[in-house]
Amino acid sequence: MMQSLHGKVAVVTGGSRGIGLAIARALVADAVQVAVTGRSASHLSAARPKIEGSGPGAVETLQADVRRYDEVQRAIDATVARFGGLDILINNAGVGIFTDVATMTPEQWAEVVDTNLTGVFHTCRVAIPHMRRRGGGFIINISSLAGKNPFADGAAYCASKSGLNAFSEALMQEVRYDNIRVSYVMPGSVATAFSSGDENKGADWKIAPEEVAEVVVNLLRHNPRSLPSRVELRPSKPRK
Ligand SMILES: NC(=O)c1ccc[n+]([C@@H]2O[C@H](COP(=O)([O-])OP(=O)(O)OC[C@H]3O[C@@H](n4cnc5c(N)ncnc54)[C@H](OP(=O)(O)O)[C@@H]3O)[C@@H](O)[C@H]2O)c1
Repeated sequence: MMQSLHGKVAVVTGGSRGIGLAIARALVADAVQVAVTGRSASHLSAARPKIEGSGPGAVETLQADVRRYDEVQRAIDATVARFGGLDILINNAGVGIFTDVATMTPEQWAEVVDTNLTGVFHTCRVAIPHMRRRGGGFIINISSLAGKNPFADGAAYCASKSGLNAFSEALMQEVRYDNIRVSYVMPGSVATAFSSGDENKGADWKIAPEEVAEVVVNLLRHNPRSLPSRVELRPSKPRK
């Protein structure tokens, strides 16, 4: 039994580019009312027509940095005011700075951890009371295989995603009896501008952003009797 997403309300953080943009488009195609956040106003306005054109759902774009609790609160409150509630939170916003620990600046460390981990705490902290008022909801965190397979020059990123995995599992146990379902997705390399600055680089073998979006939609539609709480998604044939 697949759940219908028609008319649900979602927030997608970092929905202006890459994986978040693909998730927002897939949700709007399924008639979800979607608010996407991002830091850059120009990236948000460029994304808006791409999301609107993908289906019958409504779209709102909101400038909000997930590192700032006040901005997150304002964005989620605006979503609830516009669409009448909140059912789905997709924590997708993330950054990677890849350098060795001896070289990394404290500011670079803070940018990665504050975005990828503390930012998710901020959105969940604001969203959960709205979901409880609604009688339930779904939180999906976009983590990474880097959260379980650490590598050199990735200490901050790997630690942030490993922390996100632990956060997700603890939160899942906290809110499951409120009918709030928490899952996290751990993709391998995805063809976006994230690491190389060029979304076409490696597009022949990397995961497509739309494939991550498909996993997200399938999680949302999964029969609520059971919960696929952690999904690993990897390229079928990674470059040798
Ligand atoms: N690409 C990969 O290979 C890969 C693999 C595994 C996991 N992931 C994870 O997937 C997620 C999305 O990655 P992506 O590849 O789609 O990256 P991307 O193409 O660089 O897009 C990142 C998005 O996040 C937004 N963002 C960044 N920092 C933000 C902040 N502080 N507040 C609000 N929004 C912020 C960006 O908005 P602006 O446009 O305003 O900067 C943009 O919309 C990340 O969590 C990443 O760690 C990526």
